[in-house]
Amino acid sequence: MIHIKTHEEIELTAAACDLMSRTLGEVAKWVEPGVTTKRLDTIAREFILDNGGKPACLGYHGFPGTLCIEINDMVVHGFPSNRTLREGDIVGIDSVVELNGWNGDSCFTFAVGEIDDKEKGLLQATYESLYKGIAAAKAGRRVGDISNAVQTYVEKRGYTVVREMCGHGIGKEMHEDPEVPNYGRRGIGPVLKPGMIICIEPMINLGSKNVKIDPNGWECRTRDGKPSAHYEHTVVITGEEPRQLTTFKYVEEVLKAKGAFFPQLRNHADSKVEG
Ligand code: MF3
Ligand code: CO
Repeated sequence: MIHIKTHEEIELTAAACDLMSRTLGEVAKWVEPGVTTKRLDTIAREFILDNGGKPACLGYHGFPGTLCIEINDMVVHGFPSNRTLREGDIVGIDSVVELNGWNGDSCFTFAVGEIDDKEKGLLQATYESLYKGIAAAKAGRRVGDISNAVQTYVEKRGYTVVREMCGHGIGKEMHEDPEVPNYGRRGIGPVLKPGMIICIEPMINLGSKNVKIDPNGWECRTRDGKPSAHYEHTVVITGEEPRQLTTFKYVEEVLKAKGAFFPQLRNHADSKVEG
């Protein structure tokens, strides 16, 4: 069942999303060669708690961290560990914050130090595909229009779409209806209506689309060992343009100050969807 949110519920979710976005901004300061992923997890957990939120992933069906950490070939749901980040890695940081009973979900894939052009291209295309998906999230259109916008964009550039995991609705629960696949035909799936809050989260591979899940039941990697990228925003459907509830502006401020690589939208027409 798809929950249509009231104006008040949307603003509560927006507040959770703002804390989620600021958490990614905090983590961004510490993404450097040599840091352990456990350390990043602790920083995020403390930041969320200090700001009155709850790390929603921690303990969710037994998940052992505040952050899902996705290094190189890890697609989703990587565990924080003693692994240190190394120059040339790409690392997705995905998390959900609960604030006053409402959830915000976002993911950003970072470059650790200098990365190769192949990885830069993958990050750029995945990032752009997220905004293509958001631009398609208009009232009266269907979930398949979002899916198709993402898939068409990345496949044209030679990348592949992970099938096993999807975006989703969000609200009081981290995962609500509808599912939002990153592939599929236009014009299929549920109709998008004002007040629906959804997470759009392309998971895009450099090589083949196939993935495997670790015996621990969580950690998901590409089968061919090639890198995968992941960006995610929480978005509300409105009568007009879709409204992004999460933002990368905090992350981008930090990365700009560091002089680190991060993907950017190329044309102004797209950037108007970034809140
Ligand atoms: N954005 C991720 C998702 O929608 C967050 C997962 S949290 C976890 O699946 F607890 F399930 F790992
Ligand atoms: Co999500």
